[in-house]
Amino acid sequence: MSELGFKNFWYIACESRELKPNETMARKILGEWIVLFRDENNQPRAFEDRCIHRNSQLSKGWVKDGKLQCSYHGWIFQGDGKLVGIPSEGPQSNKKLGSRCAKAFKTLEQDDFIYVQLEQSELAPLKPFSMPHYKSTGYETVRLFNKFENTVINCAENYIDVPHTVFVHDKIFRDSLDEEIKTKVTREDGRVIIEYLGETSNLGWFSWFLNPNKVPIIHIDTYHMPNTTCVKYIIDKKEFWITSQSIPVSEFETWVWTDLTYKFGAKLLNKISRPIVRFQGQSVIDQDIVVLNNQGKVIQKYGEKFSNASADVIHVLIESVYNELKLGKDPRNLPKKELEVKFWI
Ligand code: FES
Ligand SMILES: [Fe+2]
Repeated sequence: MSELGFKNFWYIACESRELKPNETMARKILGEWIVLFRDENNQPRAFEDRCIHRNSQLSKGWVKDGKLQCSYHGWIFQGDGKLVGIPSEGPQSNKKLGSRCAKAFKTLEQDDFIYVQLEQSELAPLKPFSMPHYKSTGYETVRLFNKFENTVINCAENYIDVPHTVFVHDKIFRDSLDEEIKTKVTREDGRVIIEYLGETSNLGWFSWFLNPNKVPIIHIDTYHMPNTTCVKYIIDKKEFWITSQSIPVSEFETWVWTDLTYKFGAKLLNKISRPIVRFQGQSVIDQDIVVLNNQGKVIQKYGEKFSNASADVIHVLIESVYNELKLGKDPRNLPKKELEVKFWI
C-alpha cells in the first residue's frame, strides 16, 4: 500500500504501567475496538476485540500463560493471534484449528507507553514519536492524561494556539499585555514549526521563576502529523517542554497524554518542583477542556465553519497537512512554506 492515512500512524493505547500481566484491557482507537494483553514474554499484544468464533468481545476473556481465552466458548489465541485451542473439540482439538487467527495489530512499547498501529503502509513511520528528553539525565517528566469531547485535530491545535492563552489562561499561564508577537512559521515534511521571535516575558505568574533576568526566550512550537504537538521553551539554562499526543478514540472523543518535561537546575529542585508542575499543568488543561468541549458541542450541532484572523494561518497550515491524510496522501510531499506572522496578545 503506498497510501498514507490515519490508521498507519502509531497511537498510544495506554501507559505501560496500566497493562498488567494476566489482564485484558479494552481500548478504542479511530473507532476500532481493541483488546490488549501481555504475552508469555511480557510483550504487549493487541487484537480486534472480537472473537472469530461467534463474535464475543475478547476483552471479556482471560489471559493464561500469555494466551488469551474467549469467555464465551473458551477458544484460545496466542500472542500473534493464532488460534491454538478449541475446548469443545476435545483432545483432538489441534487437528481442527487450521490456520485461523484473531485480527492482530502491531504494537510497540516506547517511553513507557504502549502504541498500536492499526494498518501498515510502506509510507508509515517505523516507530512512534519519541517523547523529547524522556528519562534523560537532568530532566524530569510529569505525565498527564485527559479526555476531551472534540476532534483530535482541534485538541492538537489547541496545545499550540497562543492567542487563546491570554483569555482562557489569564494570569495563570499568560498575562494579556497587548504586546505584538512575531513568529516565523514553516510547513515542511509533515510538520508545522512556529518560532517565536523576541519573547522575554509574559509567562504569567511563573515569569519570576522561569525568567527572573528577562533574557530572550527561545520558544518553538511544532506540530508533527497527525496528532502530536511539542512546545519548547529554553530560558537561560532552564528548559520546559510540553509534548502532547492526542489520540482519536472516535470522532468527538479524544484522549490526550501530555508530558511536561523540564530541567530547572539541580536534581533536588527538579524533584521538589514536580507537584507544582503537575498542579499548574493540570489547571491549565482543565481550562482547555472547558473551552474545547464547548467548541466540540457547537461543531456537532452546526458543523465546522471557521473564519480566520492573521494568527490562524498556523491552524490553516496544520489543517493542510491533516487534510492530505484524509485524502490518503503523504503530507511530506506538500511544498515547503515559510511565512512571517504577527499578532497581538
Ligand atoms: S465466541 Fe469466542 S469462543 Fe465462542
Ligand atoms: Fe490552552
